[in-house]
Amino acid sequence: MSDPVLEISGLEVTFPGLVRSTTILRSIDMRIDAGDVLGLVGESGCGKSMTALACLGMVPAPGSVSGGIKVDGYEVVGRSDAELGAVRGSKAAMIFQNPMRSLNPFFSVGRQMTEIIRLHRSCDKADAYMIAMEELTSVHMPDPDFALSKYPHQLSGGQIQRVMIALALACRPKLLIADEPTTALDVTVQAQIISLLRELADKTGLTILFITHDLGVVSQLCNRVAVMYAGRIVETGSVEDVIDNPRHPYAAKLMNTVPTIGHGLRDLDSIPGQVPDPAFPPPGCAFHDRCALAIELCSQTIPRTKVMAGAHEVACHRAGDIRDAAKVTS
Ligand SMILES: Nc1ncnc2c1ncn2[C@@H]1O[C@H](COP(=O)(O)OP(=O)(O)OP(=O)(O)O)[C@@H](O)[C@H]1O
Ligand SMILES: [Mg+2]
Repeated sequence: MSDPVLEISGLEVTFPGLVRSTTILRSIDMRIDAGDVLGLVGESGCGKSMTALACLGMVPAPGSVSGGIKVDGYEVVGRSDAELGAVRGSKAAMIFQNPMRSLNPFFSVGRQMTEIIRLHRSCDKADAYMIAMEELTSVHMPDPDFALSKYPHQLSGGQIQRVMIALALACRPKLLIADEPTTALDVTVQAQIISLLRELADKTGLTILFITHDLGVVSQLCNRVAVMYAGRIVETGSVEDVIDNPRHPYAAKLMNTVPTIGHGLRDLDSIPGQVPDPAFPPPGCAFHDRCALAIELCSQTIPRTKVMAGAHEVACHRAGDIRDAAKVTS
C-alpha cells in the first residue's frame, strides 16, 4: 500500500464559549492515497469546511485542534504559521467557492500569479510569467496572455476558478483541497471545471479532497466518498459502495435527496429534523432522533466504526442489519 497523501487520525476541533466549549469535529479519521479523489459530503454545518481548514493549519482562532493530520508525511497539528508555510502551496493547496475573494481586485491576474509563483518556486519574473502561461494553458484557459493582463473583475467566474486552479497547481502540491469550488458557477461552467479536475487527476495523478453537496458531481469526479454528520465521519468507501449501497441510514437518506447519475430520477426525499447544534450534542449516535432504524442503544452509545467489506467503513449500530438501503429510504 502506498503512503497516504493525507492521513487524519483522531482529529478534534473545539471552540471555547462563554458558558461551554463547542466541539465541531470529533474523532475524525480519514486517509487519502495518492491519486485518489475523495468526495466529502454532508449537510450544511456538518464540519466539511472545518476539516479542510484543519488540513492546512487554518482553523480560525480561538479554535483548538488535537489529533494528527499528516499531509504528505508532514504533521500539521501543533505547527507555527511560519512552519506551515512549508505545507501551504507546496504540499497542499486549496480552492474555494468564491475565488474572486482570494484575489486582490487592484492588481492584474498576471501580477498576482507571478508573485505567488515566485514565492513558492525560486525563479525570476520572466520565468514566473512563463510558468503562469503554462499552467493557464494546462487548465484550458482560452487566451492565457489575455487573462494575465486582466484584473480579476474582468474575467468570468469560471475563468477566475481556472486561474485559481492554475495557481494552486503551479506550486506542485501533492494534495488539492477544493471546498465547493463550483457552487457559485452556472451548470455548464460547473461541468467544465469538474471535467478539468477529472482530467488533471487522470493525467497527473493529482490527489483531491473535494467538498460538495452535489452527489452527481461525486459520481462524476470521485472514486471515494466520506459522509460527515454532526462533526463525525459516519461512512467511507468507494463511490460504488457508498452511493449505490449506503449502509449508514444518514448516508442512505442523503443519497436519496438528489437524483444520481445512472439511476434515473429517484423519489426525492428530504431528511426530517435538523443537524444538532454542536454545542448540545445528543447522547449516543448524533443521528438517532432523525433515524427510522434507531434502537435504544443508538440513543445511549456512540457507534464505533465497523469495516463492512474492503474499504467500506460505517459508524452505525444497525449497519450490519441494513442489507438493502431501500429499507431506510422508503
Ligand atoms: N470560526 C468559528 N467559530 C465557531 N464555530 C464555527 C466557526 N466556523 C464554523 N463553525 C461551526 O462549525 C460547524 C461546522 O462548520 P463548517 O463550516 O465546517 O460546515 P460545512 O459542513 O462546511 O457546512 P456548509 O455545507 O454550509 O459549508 C458549524 O456548526 C459552524 O457553525
Ligand atoms: Mg463549508
